[in-house]
Amino acid sequence: MAEPRGLAPRQLAWQVLQAVAAGAYADGALERELGRVQLAPLDRALATELAYGAIRQRRLLDAWLDQLGKVPAERQPPKLRWLLHLGLYQLIASDRVPASAAVSTTVELAKRGGLARLAPVVNGMLRAFLRRRERGDTLPLLPSALADPVQVLGVHHSLPDWLARELLQWLPLEQAEAYAQACNTPPSLDLRVNVLRSSVPAVQAELAAAGVEARPIEGLPAGLTLLGRSGDLSRLPGYAEGHWCVQDRAAQRIAPLLDPQPGERILDACAAPGGKSTHLAELMEDQGLVLALDRGEARLRRVSRNAERLGLGCIEVRHGDATTWAEQQPELLGSFDRILVDAPCSGLGTLARHADARWRIDPASIDGLVLLQHQLLKGLLPLLKPQGRLVYATCTVHPRENTELMDAFVASNPRWDVQESWKLWPGSMHGGGDGFYAAALSQTL
Ligand SMILES: C[S@@+](CC[C@H](N)C(=O)[O-])C[C@H]1O[C@@H](n2cnc3c(N)ncnc32)[C@H](O)[C@@H]1O
Repeated sequence: MAEPRGLAPRQLAWQVLQAVAAGAYADGALERELGRVQLAPLDRALATELAYGAIRQRRLLDAWLDQLGKVPAERQPPKLRWLLHLGLYQLIASDRVPASAAVSTTVELAKRGGLARLAPVVNGMLRAFLRRRERGDTLPLLPSALADPVQVLGVHHSLPDWLARELLQWLPLEQAEAYAQACNTPPSLDLRVNVLRSSVPAVQAELAAAGVEARPIEGLPAGLTLLGRSGDLSRLPGYAEGHWCVQDRAAQRIAPLLDPQPGERILDACAAPGGKSTHLAELMEDQGLVLALDRGEARLRRVSRNAERLGLGCIEVRHGDATTWAEQQPELLGSFDRILVDAPCSGLGTLARHADARWRIDPASIDGLVLLQHQLLKGLLPLLKPQGRLVYATCTVHPRENTELMDAFVASNPRWDVQESWKLWPGSMHGGGDGFYAAALSQTL
């Protein structure tokens, strides 16, 4: 029997939803599934959008299922639950899929994917949703017991309650909703041009010749953003030649905050996979030393590969634990002009990019991260020259990992001052970009 159009990318997205529900990471599961089948670029993009979108919107989709069916979402057979998520997500959020195609492909997947008996249920629930929408219901109705602001924000924007609760403590409702919307919008695809090998106009022209439109990003001298969807970016012209790398626009603001100069010695203490180490080296015209330290050995290999591809010779890679590294390298005490601590964090600024992250993080894991962030700062300071500059950065918006951490640090280290600090909410750089925090510290002499 010939396969109906558009079934393969949806089948793939369904597999990813099942794998993630069973504990896999979304990006790994998607990569594995994409590696198993040959899909055209547009189908790859559709599979990615559907899988990531349905994972982000899991809570909202469950709330709809609770209302549309007789059995609550949590008690549905998992395979059916994730298939219904896939179908409903297309009806709710995908502007590219006509409703009829969303319903017919989902029903067809049920028939072919071992749920033939339940195909009428799938059809019935998706059509019930369409009738509700025709009546003007754009959001699931919450029982009044649920209608407290935390749960309304959490269900409507598909966030866990603990995060919705914290957001409402940090921000007025409108801004909390804007954050949540940014977390549910596919992230921008930004590049950083390697100005030692090419230029922004040259890369733009190189990509345009391959039919890919890229635009400069205001305020970022080496930034370009890709318009439209692209498949495997490493196949685009200029990648293998080291003319550019992929780096989010907000992340591109971190290395310049160190103000690195050619010939200096810089320690990048949490370096892998090397986005900021390579940026530092480019800003230093590849002169001096960028010591790229990380405790993840496999991740460190990516730093070496990226440095090599970009033709950067001043990066040296070291494996080690940055919290205790100074104790093991007494000859390096006070020897670095600048140190970057791009700390492991809860990643609440990158929820759009990591579709499943919001379902993994919890307040207890943040406790552990805050402790590690303190240990990193304390362990690394002795490596800095007396007039050196240390930049602490995270891709989270949680105050405990950012401003509160800095306040506590300065309170217990009175000879240190925060020279400059800023926080970016996701989506706040010309409508895109991850959320980031950065603070530059130096000693008062
Ligand atoms: C936010 S990522 C760094 C991203 C990187 N700076 C970039 O721009 O590509 C945090 C890194 O910290 C590393 N890490 C976590 N704990 C560490 C420790 N105690 N010592 C050294 N590296 C650590 C992780 O392996 C991870 O690669």
